[in-house]
Amino acid sequence: MEKLKVMTIFGTRPEAIKMAPVILELEKFSDKIQTTVAVTAQHREMLDQVLKLFKIRPNYDLNIMSAGQTLFDITSRALLGLNKILEEVKPDIILVHGDTTTTFAGALAAYYHQISVGHVEAGLRTGNKFSPYPEEMNRKLTAALTDLNFAPTDTAKKNLLREGISDEKIFVTGNTVIDALYKTVRNDFTFSDELLNGIDYDKKIILVTTHRRENWGEPLRNVYKALKKLVEEFSDVEIIFPVHKNPIVRDVVNEELGNLPRVHLTDPLDYEPFANLMSRVKLILTDSGGVQEEAPALGKPVLVLRDTTERPEAVNAGTVKLIGTEFEKVYENAKLLLTDSAEYKKMSEAVNPYGDGIAAKRIVQAILWTYKLSDEKPAPFNS
Ligand code: UD1
Ligand code: UDP
Repeated sequence: MEKLKVMTIFGTRPEAIKMAPVILELEKFSDKIQTTVAVTAQHREMLDQVLKLFKIRPNYDLNIMSAGQTLFDITSRALLGLNKILEEVKPDIILVHGDTTTTFAGALAAYYHQISVGHVEAGLRTGNKFSPYPEEMNRKLTAALTDLNFAPTDTAKKNLLREGISDEKIFVTGNTVIDALYKTVRNDFTFSDELLNGIDYDKKIILVTTHRRENWGEPLRNVYKALKKLVEEFSDVEIIFPVHKNPIVRDVVNEELGNLPRVHLTDPLDYEPFANLMSRVKLILTDSGGVQEEAPALGKPVLVLRDTTERPEAVNAGTVKLIGTEFEKVYENAKLLLTDSAEYKKMSEAVNPYGDGIAAKRIVQAILWTYKLSDEKPAPFNS
């Protein structure tokens, strides 16, 4: 029997974190599936640390990252590089994840070769073309090219149905980020980093990450100014801020928050220490997508530094609040949670609307079922 050829294609840190459980699950079916991994390496160091953690060795690495790359650079380099790989491997189906430019280029390259596309984390929408930018269009364009949609939640499935995608092409699986998180967070974890080991986690520790394109410039500067005011005003507040590798983000962070007492600016943390750090801090401020999904599962309140979110589930559950990037909003919302224990308690109930830790199993089961390699259709994830 010919094996089913499945190729995963990804390129950035969050795609790697969320695709790793899928690859590990695919590899369990080596009697039926031939798995190959192609990375664009749209990210380099931030990707490599995830590959190392989950012991994934890509079969193909396009190594496309360049300093200050534009959307045109990423799209064209990924598309041309993937053309050759797809020609050589001729997979039956490729899997892309989420909404990065690698995701869209991967789906487009597969379409040009008339290869089926499976989309992991399908159906997230804000309905706003430019927020997040370019992710909203990356995922919509990918959806148009997709044959099998792996929607993490029922809300995501409804978004796809509304766009005319037929029910039988959609599997509700939960988000693989929760699979990755459960494999990574441990109560007895010790940080190898001296700074993180030395922090007193009984204090009011705020964890911050930022990177979104629509926040570059003034919006991020406002956020950092608000953080500065908070540490200046509250002597028991400490900030840990692993700064994204993007120089456009780093420059503003250093200008506004460099050399301040009780503000620890670090390089991006590897996923294992980062996930374990999330589980220990008091409060998280972020514009990240993935962090909005992980923190609620750990019972950590999240203030989202964006005007829109494609992840309404934890907002509805009360663990996540959308606050935007205005100085006063950031300052007031963070201050409230730092000083009002009733408000804090309301937002720190652990909720798990995004997954139950077996999303990857459902995805692989759905592929096997679709290609008639198993009789078992996976039961949908119910949040
Ligand atoms: C990308 C994705 C975004 C995703 C984010 C996750 C696009 C257009 N954007 O945004 O959807 O949410 O990743 O973090 O697909 N850099 C390094 N080393 C690294 C990674 C990045 O030096 O390991 C620097 C490089 O100078 C690079 C720059 O960061 O040019 C920007 O990287 P890029 O992937 O273009 O954008 P992100 O903001 O990371
Ligand atoms: N993350 C990490 N180290 C960091 C910051 C974030 O490992 O220093 C992880 C985080 O736990 C989440 C993912 O990276 O799983 C989110 O990536 P990012 O915010 O870059 O992208 P997004 O999710 O917004 O696309």
